[in-house]
Amino acid sequence: MKIALITGASSGIGREFAVQIAKLYRNLDEIWVTARRAERLEQLKKELDVRVKIYTGNLCDDEIYNKIEAALKNENIEIRMLVNAAGYGKMEKVDAGDPKEQCGMLDVNCRALTRMTMLCIPFLSSGSRIVNIASAAAFCPQPGFAVYAASKSYVYSFSLALGAELEKRSITVTTVCPGPVDTEFFERAGALPSKEKAAVRASASEVVKQALLDSVNRKTISVYGMPMKCARIFAGILSDRLLTRIMKRINHIN
Ligand SMILES: NC(=O)c1ccc[n+]([C@@H]2O[C@H](COP(=O)([O-])OP(=O)(O)OC[C@H]3O[C@@H](n4cnc5c(N)ncnc54)[C@H](OP(=O)(O)O)[C@@H]3O)[C@@H](O)[C@H]2O)c1
Repeated sequence: MKIALITGASSGIGREFAVQIAKLYRNLDEIWVTARRAERLEQLKKELDVRVKIYTGNLCDDEIYNKIEAALKNENIEIRMLVNAAGYGKMEKVDAGDPKEQCGMLDVNCRALTRMTMLCIPFLSSGSRIVNIASAAAFCPQPGFAVYAASKSYVYSFSLALGAELEKRSITVTTVCPGPVDTEFFERAGALPSKEKAAVRASASEVVKQALLDSVNRKTISVYGMPMKCARIFAGILSDRLLTRIMKRINHIN
């Protein structure tokens, strides 16, 4: 049975992946979705014109991985696409931050993404794809958002290296690096100053459409929109010191 597995499918970017994958990839037998909010996943299931299997749980607990692993083994599953979208950010200075929230980002954004990927690798078939959601925050250090940006640098580096390892099995890994996207993300992260947000924000549907296109074209990095493409170029040219100072100013850190 051919499936796509999507984490973080209860809202925002992950949910949008489920919607677009269901429309575009008619050869899939099922889409498997995970998140903690069961009612959101049930609602998504009603909206999709494909069989949906729900795995509710916290990606920081063992239980969800055990359930998915058992199902993968028992049901003769071929994963055609894995989308690791679950994640969160919390804008706080490190010296004033809540350690649980800050370290929790490492647990979800890095550890859970790595664990889900390692769990799925044996079930990924030749020509299949992994899509990992990093962020444009991966491009440079971000005072005021230090742990989040570092966690996304991990996703960026990990995904590039993994892609090279899986090349011989014809499995593509695409790292998606969006700037601000209109989702519930900012409710937990804390709002960006509205001027900057309005200038560069994108919709989840635009970002996901581009990501799926880039993944089909076997690209390793997907960056939506001119502002973020420019940010990536500047991050490659400017010194780390200068970049960090610029981000400190943009994030209004004194
Ligand atoms: N929005 C942006 O501006 C932006 C920009 C760049 C990158 N990103 C990245 O895009 C990804 C998706 O974010 P989004 O914007 O779509 O935010 P979102 O709407 O808040 O979605 C986050 C998703 O992650 C899930 N999740 C969070 N913690 C979890 C946990 N412990 N266990 C299981 N699931 C968990 C949430 O589900 P439950 O709460 O139901 O568990 C939800 O489905 C994240 O990795 C984020 O870092 C976002």
